[in-house]
Amino acid sequence: MNVLVTGSSGWLGRTLVPLLRRAGHSAVGLDPAPGPATDVVGSVVDRGLVREVIRGREIDAIVHAGALHKPQVATHSATDFVAVNVQGTLNLLEEAVAAGTVDRFVFTSTTSLMISRRIRAGKVGGARAAAWLDESMTPLEPRNIYGVTKRSAEDMCRLVHALHGLPVLLLRTSRFFPEEDDMAHAIAQSAENTKANEFLFRRLTVDDAAEAHLVALAAAPRVGFDTYIVSAPTPFSPADGAELIDNAPAVVARYFPDYPALYARRGWTMFDSIDRVYDASKIARDIGFTCRTGFAQVLDALRA
Ligand SMILES: NC(=O)c1ccc[n+]([C@@H]2O[C@H](COP(=O)([O-])OP(=O)(O)OC[C@H]3O[C@@H](n4cnc5c(N)ncnc54)[C@H](O)[C@@H]3O)[C@@H](O)[C@H]2O)c1
Repeated sequence: MNVLVTGSSGWLGRTLVPLLRRAGHSAVGLDPAPGPATDVVGSVVDRGLVREVIRGREIDAIVHAGALHKPQVATHSATDFVAVNVQGTLNLLEEAVAAGTVDRFVFTSTTSLMISRRIRAGKVGGARAAAWLDESMTPLEPRNIYGVTKRSAEDMCRLVHALHGLPVLLLRTSRFFPEEDDMAHAIAQSAENTKANEFLFRRLTVDDAAEAHLVALAAAPRVGFDTYIVSAPTPFSPADGAELIDNAPAVVARYFPDYPALYARRGWTMFDSIDRVYDASKIARDIGFTCRTGFAQVLDALRA
């Protein structure tokens, strides 16, 4: 494959481009910011450039990871978000169809678009059980411009697939960024502790995120169109929902009896309450992708 990767200077893109090359594919990175994995410095908003790159570089597959995302909500306008995340996605889709050479498209979406204000409010907002979130979850009520534009971009993908048959897979990826941003869940003074906890229900490594895109590229023509949550496998089940809200440490101890001792050695703690769980079992069933790193591997590392 000769894959156009948008957002190639970003955290995911600069991990995915070398992975594609190691797997024997060619990759062309496109990003407004220069970087080691970026071959074309430019924007998906520039339709002429998008056309030129797809045709001139003989692109036959696209991973669209470039976006304005959560950290930029504070610095960019809603209009910027619509231009990049919605119009930019449409530019890529329509130019892919018009070129006639592209036979697969993978869109990096986000689990964030499933999080309404109510879900985010969790126990404080009166939730009696953790929300169990899989691909069938409705209604989608994203709480900020990031989620709204990612949802619209998903709809653009769905529409272009329906009209033109372009195979498109939507990967609703949970968090893989290195920094902390969610004060509702963060544990003061320990980013490592926070991230370790999140592997139970809302995180994956950037390497697993990149690998999921590689697997999705291979599967897209066979699948045609579908939406997949991508997150580390959770040990929990929907039956744990009420207890996860009320006493998350007790639930975790049932699945991992030695976690309290391993955590205590580091002075780590578990979140008191867990408000949502992303269920990534569909992508495992349908196209055989499971993250390599989950909470069990985090504990293995602590044991070692
Ligand atoms: N980081 C996470 O935890 C996370 C979680 C879920 C989904 N995602 C999604 O994964 C993708 C990659 O995220 P990331 O963490 O690598 O973010 P990042 O900010 O590190 O990378 C995004 C890249 O997109 C580029 N970009 C911005 N505007 C663009 C434009 N107009 N045209 C082309 N590229 C443009 C940026 O310059 C940046 O290099 C995004 O689509 C994001 O929404 C990220």
